[in-house]
Formats: sequence, C-alpha cells, structure tokens
Amino acid sequence: MQPEAPQLAPAPRRDFLSVAAGGSAVAFAAAAGYPVLRYMEPRTRPPSGPTTIGRQEEFPPGAARIVAVEDRPVLVIRGEDGKFQAFVALCTHLQCVVGYSKERKQIECGCHRGVYNLEGLNVAGPPPRPLEVLDVALRDGMVVVSEA
Ligand code: FES
Repeated sequence: MQPEAPQLAPAPRRDFLSVAAGGSAVAFAAAAGYPVLRYMEPRTRPPSGPTTIGRQEEFPPGAARIVAVEDRPVLVIRGEDGKFQAFVALCTHLQCVVGYSKERKQIECGCHRGVYNLEGLNVAGPPPRPLEVLDVALRDGMVVVSEA
C-alpha cells in the first residue's frame, strides 16, 4: 500500500490573474515611461569650441557626411549651392544616428522613421524636438563647426 499523496489546495485563479495583471502593468509602465525619461534628459552637449572637420573639397555639393566631433556624430550637408549645414546627428527620440536622404531632401532616422527637414525641424515620426543645429564656417579652405 502506497502512502497517500498530500492534497494540494488548488491555486486560486484570482491570485494568478492578479499577478499577471500586475506584471503587465509594470511592463507597460516601463515601456511608456522610458521615452518620457529620455525626453526629460538634458539635450546633447554641443561641441565645446570650433572644430575643424576637413577640407572644403572633401564635401562635394549635394552630398552629406557624418563626421565625429568630440566622440559624437555630426551630420554635415552641403547643398547644391555649396552652402553648408551641420547638425548633431543624434535623433531626439532615442538617440539613433540620423542620416541625409538626397532623394527626399530630408534627414531621416531609421530606428522609428523619424523625419527632420533641412532646417533640422522634426516633421514626422516620434522625435519630440528639432536636431541641434551647429554653425559652419570656412576658414582658409577648412570647414569648421561650432555651437550655434
Ligand atoms: S530614435 Fe529616431 S525615431 Fe526613434
């Protein structure tokens, strides 16, 4: 004769549902709160001073390049008219590196389809604010960026 196995009390269904609902609420709060916290973070720091990023002829008209300035990506766009523009190339949504679309003449973030116009203004997608604009100057044939 085998000893009788102890009877387990059935787990109350209500307890299980409470734990599941609580876990879902925590996950939802984390997912919703993270972007809010990132939004409230201070803006990316601008370059501390003028920084030479290359020779003028390294930036052909109608093209764009990402250059590193103090360990941060800077998007440099040279229009067909030869005019330079520069932005800190970090998306204001979740800090992905943005890029220039020559076909659409806009700045795009591939992470969540954020779009900025050529003034750096956020025009579509989740980015909450414009890109940080940098000043660009030409000095003796060299391209220099600095805080706007
Ligand atoms: S990180 Fe750029 S759109 Fe989300």
